Formats: sequence, structure tokens, C-alpha cells
Amino acid sequence: MSTISISPTTPVAPAATAAAPPTRRKQTVRTFHLKKQQGEPITMLTAYDYATALAVDRAGIDSILVGDSLGMVVLGYDTTLPVTMADMLHHCRAVARGAQYALLIGDMPFMSYQVSVPEAVRNAGRFLQEAGMDAVKLEGGRERVEVVKAIVDAGIPVMGHLGLTPQSVHQLGGFRTQARTATAAQRLLEDALLLQEAGCFSLVLEAIPEQLARFVSQRLDIATIGIGAGVGCDGQVLVTHDLLGLFDRFTPKFARQYAHLHQVMAEAFAAYKEDVQQRRFPGPEHSTEMSAAEWQTLLANL
Ligand code: KIV
Repeated sequence: MSTISISPTTPVAPAATAAAPPTRRKQTVRTFHLKKQQGEPITMLTAYDYATALAVDRAGIDSILVGDSLGMVVLGYDTTLPVTMADMLHHCRAVARGAQYALLIGDMPFMSYQVSVPEAVRNAGRFLQEAGMDAVKLEGGRERVEVVKAIVDAGIPVMGHLGLTPQSVHQLGGFRTQARTATAAQRLLEDALLLQEAGCFSLVLEAIPEQLARFVSQRLDIATIGIGAGVGCDGQVLVTHDLLGLFDRFTPKFARQYAHLHQVMAEAFAAYKEDVQQRRFPGPEHSTEMSAAEWQTLLANL
């Protein structure tokens, strides 16, 4: 039988796949506040399905984001815009079944919070009530203050998202680094302060200059989670498909690949194909025999 081996760039510690230690506690928004206070980096990854959520949770990652990036990396769209509430709730439920300890954050999809405040509150509530999430994330700055306040008033923790906000890709003219001018950087800082005042428990800072992300993180009491924003944020998030190297097509400049699973999958599929064609799979260990007596009875009856 052909076999394949996984060669991650960074060795995987056996503890990463072991069962969770019994003392581990469910992470909450307080974890974010405490880690920020203690200067301890917060870890966050995306997950969109049960198996990945299980593995991310067992690795001890603080928080799982069910990002609307699933539209691109799981569903194959060019942008996140086609993703619906139904898509998000479906994937959030799968993640909630797999993760026991991480703080679970559901990403509000395009048009689920922009139309009206009551609709936004109702949609945010569905992530907690129907899909097992602990919090929601939404994109935008000062224009979202009213909606953030209303969702927080309903008892739902909200994570903000500034910088490259993919749901505005057409307005931004593409997936490009944001806030590179002094004016844009000042506006981003003002937005961050307004979102904090509105009640966000944390902010994602995506694709902005390193020194700006560090400055904003120092000015805020709430934790910032960076992606393509340098090491000065209070925590980091990556899209798990980028980290695992699940695509050979495109990896964002800011993502580090810790494995090359696209290659591993290609080798495994080719090995399977070869085994089937050569009748090496299934082997006796994968098959079941009828007892000789039953077989003889069958033949006799035919
Ligand atoms: O949708 C997503 O995965 C995100 C992260 C990239 C922050 O918003």
C-alpha cells in the first residue's frame, strides 16, 4: 500500500493533538481583556467545519472565528459578498459541535447588519440562539456605531473589524493595504476609539501598516487582533486554509504556511487512485467475509 508523509515547516508537537487537559476552561471575552492586561498574545484561527474546529480547539487556540472568508476558501466565490446568513449559521453549528473551549465568534455576512438596526440585532441574536456562537463580528467604523451599541445592548458581545474590510472590496478598489496616509490612519484611529466606546470587546485590524496597528493597540483598552498588521497587535488571526497551505493558487503575503496540505492531498489522492487501479485497495483488512456455512447455504439455495 502506498503511504504519504506530512512534513510541516514547523514540527507539530504531540501535545497539540492530545486530549485537552482537564483544567482547561471555556474562553470568554474576559480572556481577551485579561490577556491584553497581562501582555499575553491572544491566538485566533478561522474554522468552518467540525473536524477543523476540533483540531483548533485541541491545540489550545483562544478563539475560533467562523469567518465569512468561508465564501472564498470553502465555497469558491471570488469575494465574501455572496455569503448568506443561512451559509454562516450552517457552518457555525458545525464548528460549535467541534469546539468546547475556544471563544466562538460568528462573522455577520454582507447585508445582515447594514439595512436596519433591528434587523442587525435579530441576525446577531441568531448566531447565539441557533448556532452556538459566543459573539459576533462585523465590519466598519463610525457608520456602525449605532448598530454595535444596539447589539451590545441586547447582551451580545461584538468584535469590530477595521482596515481592509473585505465586504467593501468594491469600494476599496480591491484587496489592498489600507490607512497608508496620515489622514486615513487618523480616521482609522478615530473609528477604533468610537467602536470601543460603542461597546466592542475587541477589534480585528486587517492589512494596515505595522506602526499604525501598534499605535492603535496601545491607545485602546480593548484587544486588537491583527491579520497583515504586524506583531504590535494584542493577538493574531489567520485564515486556517492559508496556514495549512490548502491552496497552491494563492497565499496572501502576510500569511505564513505551517504545512503544505494541498501537496499532501494531491499525493494522497494519487496514491489512492494508483491503489484502486492496481487492486491494492481494499485489502483483506478492509473487507468482511461471510461464514463458510452461510455461503454454502446461499449457493445451495440459488
Ligand atoms: O472572514 C474572515 O475570516 C475574517 C478574518 C480574516 C479576520 O474576517
